[in-house]
Amino acid sequence: MQLEDIRNISVIGAGLMGHGIGLTYALGGYRVVLNDTREEILGNAISYIRNDLKTLAESGVISQDMIEETLSRLTTTTNLKKAVKDADFVTEAAVEDAEVKREIFSHLDVFCPEHTIFASNTSSLVLRDFTSQCRRKDRILITHWFNPPHIVPVVEVVRGEETSDETMELVYALLQKVKKVPVKILKEIPGFVVNRIQVGMFREVWSLWQQGIASPEDIDLAVKGSFGFRLAAIGPLATCDLGGLDLWYGIADRLFKVINDAHQPPEALKRKVRAGELGVKTGKGFFDYNIDCFTKGQEESVKARDKKFIQLLKLLYPQ
Ligand SMILES: NC(=O)c1ccc[n+]([C@@H]2O[C@H](COP(=O)([O-])OP(=O)(O)OC[C@H]3O[C@@H](n4cnc5c(N)ncnc54)[C@H](O)[C@@H]3O)[C@@H](O)[C@H]2O)c1
Repeated sequence: MQLEDIRNISVIGAGLMGHGIGLTYALGGYRVVLNDTREEILGNAISYIRNDLKTLAESGVISQDMIEETLSRLTTTTNLKKAVKDADFVTEAAVEDAEVKREIFSHLDVFCPEHTIFASNTSSLVLRDFTSQCRRKDRILITHWFNPPHIVPVVEVVRGEETSDETMELVYALLQKVKKVPVKILKEIPGFVVNRIQVGMFREVWSLWQQGIASPEDIDLAVKGSFGFRLAAIGPLATCDLGGLDLWYGIADRLFKVINDAHQPPEALKRKVRAGELGVKTGKGFFDYNIDCFTKGQEESVKARDKKFIQLLKLLYPQ
């Protein structure tokens, strides 16, 4: 199959990630079918997409006309067979549960045309956890998006044990066509690249917090305004090159002996989770929140976050 042969895209699971992934493909000119288990969820997905499009228009990323034009390319159905019967490419973004994904992929293998490529947006599973029953293993891979998917540029394109070169190249080109920044992950390992690095950082961040080395406010301030600031513009390896590898080698040689190397998340974090201090959604995490920001005020806070991200996007990814 060639890139031009991809015309119809289906997204299975229209929650937080699925609706943004569907929106991205529709913005890129594709006809998109969104599928979920209930009409109510699909109705919500379309109103989130409408809001996202309005934010993009208010930020000057798209024209006002593109709102209705993009929405006209999106349809919804709770019927999986109907959702995928004409699909050239399917992205699964259903709940992170291997059994649910296994059932979806079993159906996809039967309901989809022979040429259809399947991608999963799983963040912690590997393909063999839920696709071993599929016949077309050469045409299955992981595309790992980041929230909010229609704004964060990178998508990890993860090669499974049996994914073909052709599938990798085609999906890479498809993501470029819809203005994402695909990154090839050549071997399927848990956490891929981004989450392994991110969680490596959290291990040290949580350890510093647990030891009371700095306040939560100051830890966030320190990271945001130092390597966080730099990393939005240049990657970690370029940062090493600019500082000098001899310098970084010396720093690593001294600090590797003392930084956290725990194999379990810290006790203090476990206590917070057990106490229901889960962050914004329960009104308390590392910081206190007005619970309204997750209920009636949530839409405004997401909009404010998205507008900030879009400013960064325009600055760093003008294409
Ligand atoms: N939330 C993130 O930041 C993030 C980032 C990257 C990847 N992911 C991955 O993306 C996937 C979706 O995560 P999310 O955060 O959007 O979750 P979510 O709970 O917001 O959405 C999941 C959706 O799947 C639907 N669903 C469940 N069973 C289904 C079925 N049989 N058929 C169709 N739809 C079904 C649910 O109704 C729900 O709407 C997960 O695999 C997750 O690990 C999430």
